[in-house]
Amino acid sequence: MKKTYATEFHCSDVLMAEQAKIDLLMSGMDLSGCVESYEKDKVTLSFFEKTKKSSAKKVLRIRKATGLSPEIKVLYDSEWKGKWKEGLKPFYLTENIQIIPGKAKSKKVKAKREGIVLYIDTDIIFGSGLHPTTRMMAEFIESKAGKISNFFDIGTGTGILALIAAGYGAGEIWAIDVSEDAVKNASANFRMNGVDPDLLEPVNLSSFHRKKVFDFVSANLLTADLVKMKNKIVPFVAPGGYLAVSGVSKTNYNWFREHFRDASIRCVRVRSEAGWSGLLFKKNRARS
Ligand SMILES: C[S@@+](CC[C@H](N)C(=O)[O-])C[C@H]1O[C@@H](n2cnc3c(N)ncnc32)[C@H](O)[C@@H]1O
Repeated sequence: MKKTYATEFHCSDVLMAEQAKIDLLMSGMDLSGCVESYEKDKVTLSFFEKTKKSSAKKVLRIRKATGLSPEIKVLYDSEWKGKWKEGLKPFYLTENIQIIPGKAKSKKVKAKREGIVLYIDTDIIFGSGLHPTTRMMAEFIESKAGKISNFFDIGTGTGILALIAAGYGAGEIWAIDVSEDAVKNASANFRMNGVDPDLLEPVNLSSFHRKKVFDFVSANLLTADLVKMKNKIVPFVAPGGYLAVSGVSKTNYNWFREHFRDASIRCVRVRSEAGWSGLLFKKNRARS
């Protein structure tokens, strides 16, 4: 039976999890594969590895960086993949966006009120619509409904934000993600929702060299990655266009504001939820 090794450690609250993530980043660890799950205030951070050896290595690294003691769990793929979503019911991500989780397309659910219905299937929690950062990003996109002609989703995950933009009228969609699994997942979700993106690529933003500007750019990434890649992200925003970012925790907020500065953009909205912030920036119009 196929196995996966989960290296997981438990944090008593969001702040402890945030501090642990900062410590891990400072130790040079790549957090793009880190999955966070929430139970009331408690947060579990998990890394999934294919071999016991790589999981054991991760345990040592985490111990050294954070002083925390992670556990290794053996997971049999058939037993765990997608288990968390059992019992998940359709829910409203925002006032007007209804998410139907899982392979429910055959059931063809209708929105109970005005708005859009999206079918999102995924084996991981991020991008399912259950995370507060996804919700804040969705609200920013919703606030510009009908005004977005093209949309670039950096770190698309399940494709959820790009699908929301398409639902609100964006005619041209670009989406990238460093994870090939995420791109496969997004591709299936695009198909399930009848959306055909103009570009969907497994690529790291830092080595993505195309030139184009968009009315709306979304980047729900780790705070440190947003800051590190600011000069790659901001040029994709058209004059007068919008950039929505999230993934900024309460503890990182001031640091983020200090380091994510660019003369061409100004912050027009900040939202906060469950220890996370989302920010909407507007790019200056070009002077004629
Ligand atoms: C926090 S999830 C956001 C998923 C989805 N956009 C949402 O808002 O729910 C971040 C996603 O960005 C991807 N990612 C992280 N660093 C990236 C990079 N440098 N270039 C492209 N994608 C990246 C991760 O693989 C992950 O799927």
